[in-house]
Amino acid sequence: MLRIDVITLFPEVIEAGVGYSIVGRACAWGLVQIRAIQLRDFAEGKHKKTDDEPYGGGAGLVMKPEPIFKAVEFCLQSAPDAADQRKARIILLEPQGRLYTQSTAQELAQQEHLVLICGHYEGVDARVREHLATDVVSIGDYVLTGGELPALILIDSVVRLLPGAIHSPESLAQDSYADGLLGYPQYTRPEQFRGMRVPSVLLSGNHGAIARWRRKEQLRLTRSLRPDLFAKACLSQEDLQLLRELQTHDTERQSGL
Ligand code: ADE
Repeated sequence: MLRIDVITLFPEVIEAGVGYSIVGRACAWGLVQIRAIQLRDFAEGKHKKTDDEPYGGGAGLVMKPEPIFKAVEFCLQSAPDAADQRKARIILLEPQGRLYTQSTAQELAQQEHLVLICGHYEGVDARVREHLATDVVSIGDYVLTGGELPALILIDSVVRLLPGAIHSPESLAQDSYADGLLGYPQYTRPEQFRGMRVPSVLLSGNHGAIARWRRKEQLRLTRSLRPDLFAKACLSQEDLQLLRELQTHDTERQSGL
């Protein structure tokens, strides 16, 4: 069973975020154990300070290293033995981290123990990044007020990949990004809604034609919306054929045929 510990000043945010839907069910079914650890419990002194002024001056406060190291050590102690402790991934969530992707989620879903550290204020003492974290992860090129929402995003994306977490695991293979392309468009009843029709191929019952149409849509959407992903995608001979068909179709449309 995967264990996820989240070190945070706001455990209630994590607890509220993991109580519902697929993640909530995965916890109830024992596929994952998620603990929110209050960082302040590991702070010293009467005021239990978890932040302080930056050396060298400057605006804002920096999160102190000692409570974070102690909280991580507490989380590791719950591992069955020293080898398991060494296997734990200690993930600092910060905007300066490596960009989080579906392939990172797939990799983390194979692990046994994740310890997530939620940063706050102007940042975290750099010794946490340099000497404690095994990974530093950013969920995108924007700055949030803290690492709690990024931690919940990471948890959600990892837990849904755990065996047994979702009813139809075949659908995971159809996810956007699962094979480096965006997902294909989905439709459900009614067949016609306010004059907008479902593409007729999806009603044809021809499974081969449906699979080809879906793949072609994945290629078309990824090429137009995410050229960065498209440039990196591994394409099969069949994909290249579908792209040629798209090209022909586009040329015909442009010339009004
Ligand atoms: N903390 C603040 N902003 C963040 C981001 N973009 N990713 C991860 N952690 C963060």
